Amino acid sequence: VSESLSLRAGLSRAETYAELWPQIRAVVADEPDLVAKMANVAAALKESFAFLWVGFYRVVGDELVLGPFQGPLACSRIARGRGVCGAAWSEARTIVVPDVDKFPGHIACSSASRSEIVVPFFAPTGEVVFVLDVDSERLDDFGEADREGLERLRGLFA
Ligand code: SME
Repeated sequence: VSESLSLRAGLSRAETYAELWPQIRAVVADEPDLVAKMANVAAALKESFAFLWVGFYRVVGDELVLGPFQGPLACSRIARGRGVCGAAWSEARTIVVPDVDKFPGHIACSSASRSEIVVPFFAPTGEVVFVLDVDSERLDDFGEADREGLERLRGLFA
């Protein structure tokens, strides 16, 4: 398991999100292109926390299709309701999975993934337009700080 800059600097998860927020906002807020925004958000999160995989899946018809990401190769399409990403889409809520082996239907893109959080992003009309998926090699790696830090990113895509 690689160690992130934030861990070496001794910052808590919440403190790291707080430090990261203005940096991400500076790079992303005035950028109108969705792919450019997603790409930099994925890179910022991957670099700061050394998560295994950080990336976006976009709603295209009745599937999620892979978008910008950082990490190992991933499955490119996920059906609605399938896996953690498909569940976060169909239930339109953030899902935290402390142990992926205990989540029915979890899609293992990498056998190194142990825990996961998926955050849906919404159109003004309320439907999910894409999800942010973060995977960790550590069991039970995601908590409230992650939920708050990642859901806050919605403001940059509004
Ligand atoms: N684990 C996810 C699939 C995507 S990847 O892990 C990158 C899921 O169950 O939805």
